[in-house]
Amino acid sequence: MADEEKDLTIPEEALPKRTYWYGILEWLQKLSMRNRLFLAFVVLIVSSASATIFIGNAVFNRKVEDLVSAKVEMDLKVAEQMFTGRLERMKLIAHALATRTDRRTVAADYQKFFLDEPPLDFFLLDQGDLTTLIYMEERGSSTPAIRAAPNVSPPVAAEDAEPPEDETKYIVRALSEPADVAALKPTALVDLADAAQLEAQPHASIAILDDAVAERLGYAESGQPSMFMLAAAPIKGGGALVLGRRLNGNNELAFSMHDLIATVGNQRYKTTVFMRDERISTTIRDALGSRADPKIARTVLEKGQDYVGAARLMGEIFFTAYSPIRDERGRVVGMLGIGTSEDIYRGIQRRTTILFSSLIVGGMVFGFLMSYLFSAWLLRPVRELAEGMEKVAKGDLVTKLRILSGSELVQVAKSFNTMVGAVRERDIKLRQITEEQLSRMEKQISIGRLAAGVAHEINNPLTAVLSLSSLLLKHAPPEDPRHEDLTLIVEETQRCRDIVNSLLDFARERQPQKKFVDINQILKDTLLLTNKYHKGERIKKVIKLKPEPLIVNGDSRQLIQVFTNLVLNAAEAIEGEGSITISADEDSSGAFVEVRVADTGKGISKEHLRRVFEPFFTTKGASKGTGLGLSVSMGIVRKHDGNIEIESEEGKGTRVTVLLPRVEGELLI
Ligand SMILES: Nc1ncnc2c1ncn2[C@@H]1O[C@H](COP(=O)(O)OP(=O)(O)O)[C@@H](O)[C@H]1O
Ligand SMILES: [Mg+2]
Repeated sequence: MADEEKDLTIPEEALPKRTYWYGILEWLQKLSMRNRLFLAFVVLIVSSASATIFIGNAVFNRKVEDLVSAKVEMDLKVAEQMFTGRLERMKLIAHALATRTDRRTVAADYQKFFLDEPPLDFFLLDQGDLTTLIYMEERGSSTPAIRAAPNVSPPVAAEDAEPPEDETKYIVRALSEPADVAALKPTALVDLADAAQLEAQPHASIAILDDAVAERLGYAESGQPSMFMLAAAPIKGGGALVLGRRLNGNNELAFSMHDLIATVGNQRYKTTVFMRDERISTTIRDALGSRADPKIARTVLEKGQDYVGAARLMGEIFFTAYSPIRDERGRVVGMLGIGTSEDIYRGIQRRTTILFSSLIVGGMVFGFLMSYLFSAWLLRPVRELAEGMEKVAKGDLVTKLRILSGSELVQVAKSFNTMVGAVRERDIKLRQITEEQLSRMEKQISIGRLAAGVAHEINNPLTAVLSLSSLLLKHAPPEDPRHEDLTLIVEETQRCRDIVNSLLDFARERQPQKKFVDINQILKDTLLLTNKYHKGERIKKVIKLKPEPLIVNGDSRQLIQVFTNLVLNAAEAIEGEGSITISADEDSSGAFVEVRVADTGKGISKEHLRRVFEPFFTTKGASKGTGLGLSVSMGIVRKHDGNIEIESEEGKGTRVTVLLPRVEGELLI
């Protein structure tokens, strides 16, 4: 049995799980309308703001990258311009030198020409422009000779480089041995000199010369190929003048380019000249001789294309741009590369992102505030309605809602106000009625108790008076002078006893002793009784009875009391002359006997009409009326399953209708 019970318990895992989402849903449902509205606003603001931040920043960052790429590309063009400008200038210098001399002069006194003549300095404003000067024998001559090759030590502009020993001193070296000349013969240098002589105009180009040639030109330490900027111009009377500048290790060029393109606040620009993929002139510290990114080398050196994009330089990401350097024949021999640190732009991006985001977050906070106030404002009528309702529920019936025009809740507010007004009115009426009823009931109860007590006390002495006076009356024949007085005593005592009995009836509510009685007979008895009280001729009594009996099941004594009360009331209502009509019939349905007592008396005011059945309600003054007649009568009739209705018109008369259930049958008597 116990096991069976155990089986009935639901296992934990079978119960519906209170999930996280369920919890949230429950929480949401508990939110007030205002908070729900506010939440909706918040969700809207947050989602749109974060979308704006996300998209805005992405777009901006993308834009910045595009702009930076464009700028780097442009700066590369500037660097290229400078590079070719240098070459161009070298060509002009070569040309100028070649035109202000002739073959003879150069051959005769190269010392004078190259070193002693001041005009040369004019062309050598930029020290880096000229490192090597060569005079070459006429093209096609059987013994070509290079007469002179003064070498100007490479100037130093970069902080990175070693300081020059003597910036202005020219190292002059004669290349007089034929072997030297022969070594130069098959090179780009000779090609350029030949081209200048052939076309009779200056030529300039970038060329890579091998280590032997470089050595002949005075770069003894090279031991490997070197990249040269070369310019050749024809000399009058045959031969050519060649200027050359070795670029390897010449950081000055890179720094000059850097100075041109590096803008204020962007000190981190890097410029580099590559011989093939090797850095030979660069502003990057300790980077000489290092190699370019193979990916870049492939694009620029192999494909001969520009490269623009992010690249890693000495462990740091740079926005970079590279373009090929070509020789006289158009072959790619090197690259020009520039790069700017990503940091600066990342910094800009970061700052902009922060600024942009904080602006939006600020706006969001403002939006929250506004929507908080807005939701309050929006729901104010609803809140006021709710508060009003609460007030009303607590019993405040003077509360009234403001009717804000234009709001959808105007109708609600109006109805509410109307409703509260109606409730208030009803409440006031109800309270009045209740108060009246309460006071009346209290009065009734206290008077009822008093009356019952008094009646009880009076009853015994009254019985004694009645029996003794009746006895006396028996012994006094009608001719006895005391007979009349004794009759009056007996009658009045009987009346007293009746009043006392009715008081007791009222207080005790005596049960009727029912039997089948004919209403016609009861009314006749009533009239006999009432006639005793009103013998006067001023009131005419009309009685309309049915020939056949109208039988009810009732207490004849009590019913006589009822009709007596009605007839007496009618009589008392007539001041001066008038009539009382008493009629009995069956009602329209045939189920009831209908007894009517109508008078032509003063009538009852509307105000009094609803109170006439109240016990002790009387308009006759304490000495004359008890106010019990109608209330006792109603009590009796009700016990007979009947009812009393009163119609009255002030000044015209009153009609009282008593309905009693009719019984089909014969009288037993
Ligand atoms: N037929 C009637 N005509 C005018 N007023 C009447 C009539 N019947 C009753 N009333 C009014 O009803 C009141 C109550 O009647 P009732 O209960 O019999 O007490 P009482 O007759 O002692 O005043 C009377 O005081 C009277 O104002
Ligand atoms: Mg009365």
